[in-house]
Amino acid sequence: MEIRYNEKLKKLPPYLFIEIDRKKKEAIKCGADIISLGVGDPDLPTPDHIIKSMQESVTKPANHQYPFGAGLLSYRKAIAEWYKKRFKADLSPDEICALIGSKEGIGHIHLGFINPGDVVLIPEPGYPVYNTGTIFTDGVPYFMPLFEKNSFLPDLDAIPLDILKKAKLIFINYPNNPTAATAPEKFYLKLIEFAKKNNIIVAADAAYSEVYYDENEKPLSFLEIPGAKEVGVEFHSLSKTYNMTGWRIGWVCGNRDVVAGIAKVKDNYDSGVFQAIQEAAVTALTSSQKCVEDARKIYKERRDTLVEGLQKLDWEVNLPKASFYVWAKVPKGYTSSQTVSKLLEEAAIICTPGNGMGKSGEGYVRFALTVNVPRIKEAVERIGKIRW
Ligand SMILES: Cc1ncc(COP(=O)(O)O)c(C=O)c1O
Repeated sequence: MEIRYNEKLKKLPPYLFIEIDRKKKEAIKCGADIISLGVGDPDLPTPDHIIKSMQESVTKPANHQYPFGAGLLSYRKAIAEWYKKRFKADLSPDEICALIGSKEGIGHIHLGFINPGDVVLIPEPGYPVYNTGTIFTDGVPYFMPLFEKNSFLPDLDAIPLDILKKAKLIFINYPNNPTAATAPEKFYLKLIEFAKKNNIIVAADAAYSEVYYDENEKPLSFLEIPGAKEVGVEFHSLSKTYNMTGWRIGWVCGNRDVVAGIAKVKDNYDSGVFQAIQEAAVTALTSSQKCVEDARKIYKERRDTLVEGLQKLDWEVNLPKASFYVWAKVPKGYTSSQTVSKLLEEAAIICTPGNGMGKSGEGYVRFALTVNVPRIKEAVERIGKIRW
């Protein structure tokens, strides 16, 4: 029998990070001592107190049944409290929905709001899932380039009128993957005005909000800005904050009707997040946040080691203020792909080609700070030996 795939599945490019992982495994099989700065998956373990909480929760029979609904009230209350402490934003539990990782909500929001032909405004380079959901719902992606000259913010004024008329959803992501940029209040104010004027739902992806380097410059939440809740929602994740990528837990919060739309999609697709994981997430959010501070210190040392190392080798690269990515210009005369190949073949280093995350990423590579300082030093040493 010939297996005939959905045409939309055929339209999707290979999932970039699965490709990178495949290349890494292939090189390791051939005996290479690979330094992997490719996929943004923390190498640090989940803190012990969260694991212990999960161990207790997993034994409770009440947690063995379908979770259903928007998530445990205790989880949604813990999120609201965490939000209030971290940001200047008030949320009630019915403005929050638990997610099986923020990727799940980011990929499914389209099902609640996008009809065939509706335009989705997507930053590029960017996280590929914004476009995946668009393709699956027969929406039309309109890519907003993120240029260094614009501080890696989309130029909302440059979007043509005919596109705006058909646009229903806009994704933004700060701290940004892959450029590591953060967004100022001024940008969010403009975005909210833009969303109101054009009747476009804002989907702000804040997966990296807690990975920052300066206590005086903490990334903002979109929901801190007056008027935000009228126009959109924010996606959050415990993945990067508490080293819980494998656990699959996050949430969406903000506009009640948008949250309800996502929850309705989820009611019909999955049956919620394993309650034991939600309880462990309550522990994560309500306990001391020292583990998060400790992780920030670790990333900071790694960031400084890599950026200073690359700068000494004459690479053009800025010190990121947030996220655990370093967005570096490639050496003159090389494309992103050529640089990635050379780094793999001559230095056994894996990184992400900028253009793999959108065409405006051409000319850059992304390094993830997910290995320890000695390995980063080793990576810099190896890069220094390459003849460009
Ligand atoms: C920008 C961005 N948003 C969302 C996610 C999804 O994270 P998770 O599904 O683990 O919450 C990622 C993961 O890498 C990401 O880079």
